[in-house]
Amino acid sequence: MRKIAVLTSGGDAPGMNAAVRAVTRYAISQGIEVYGVERGYTGLINNNIFQMNKRSVSDIIQRGGTILKTSRCEEFNDKSYRQIAAENLEAYGIEGLVVIGGDGSFRGAKDLYNDFGINTIGIPGTIDNDLAYTDFTLGFDTTCNTVLSAINNLRDTMTSHDRVCIIEVMGRKCGDIALFSGIGGGAESILVPELPFQVKDLIKKIKTNQRIGKTSDIIVLAEGVCKAEELKQQLKEGGVTGSIKTTTLGYIQRGGTPSMFDRLIAAEFAIRAVDLLIEGKGGRVVGIRNNQIIDDEINEALAMPRVFNKKLYDSAVLLGL
Ligand code: F6P
Repeated sequence: MRKIAVLTSGGDAPGMNAAVRAVTRYAISQGIEVYGVERGYTGLINNNIFQMNKRSVSDIIQRGGTILKTSRCEEFNDKSYRQIAAENLEAYGIEGLVVIGGDGSFRGAKDLYNDFGINTIGIPGTIDNDLAYTDFTLGFDTTCNTVLSAINNLRDTMTSHDRVCIIEVMGRKCGDIALFSGIGGGAESILVPELPFQVKDLIKKIKTNQRIGKTSDIIVLAEGVCKAEELKQQLKEGGVTGSIKTTTLGYIQRGGTPSMFDRLIAAEFAIRAVDLLIEGKGGRVVGIRNNQIIDDEINEALAMPRVFNKKLYDSAVLLGL
């Protein structure tokens, strides 16, 4: 393995830069030339590929976002575009590609490997934590801490006014951001797409909370359930009295300096990814399970069904009472 490339794809996540830096520096230390690809698969198709050196990744470990930029590239679903991408890589003599992104990005990596034999290795980079094969994805921890900080701030003001607050967080169809930050922030209720909920039960709980003297009521709502304003409407129609406020955190959750944990797994994922390429392996993804860095075959990893941590959720409900 003499030349590899690295790209970031899909929604950016804190820690992507730390991973780009680690891939670049570790690979160069192993005698490999490293190329950066701009804007994910779009750059691969458009031939926006450039050589990097150790200084290309200076002063980025602490920065959110991605210096390589990113995109959601619809064209990559089309094999003829993937062929162009594969030919561009071949023209540079690039034999391995590290893809940092979520499941959509991994599908692109899988197709490049299966259709054109390019050794691709996926590093899970998404705030959503929605990849079944790994306990944690890069960016999730930082995002939960950002949400936590917002919950703390909102708690101050909601308590001062005796208010109910619905905080809508990201995560697509995955409730992990809501669950983890809801537990950390001591939320009264956490609503996730993995588990059905009855509005009447939530209303009953809010009324009970008011009766027993809780001075604020924080509901962390995963975006995969519904919009905060819709839920507010339902609560009002269901007879919740007093002031109900909504806060949709939005893109503030995606930026910011990566946490220690995200920087650490960025380094460990990157080292394993480069080691796999050096061994001549491709079509794999790296991750973390039970505190161990692991790698799995990409088709198998993508086929794994997600298991929601119901036990943790049930305990969290008790803590919020
Ligand atoms: O996948 C990451 C994520 O931030 C989701 O939580 C969210 O639903 C989505 O991306 C937003 O996507 P976009 O950046 O395309 O608006």
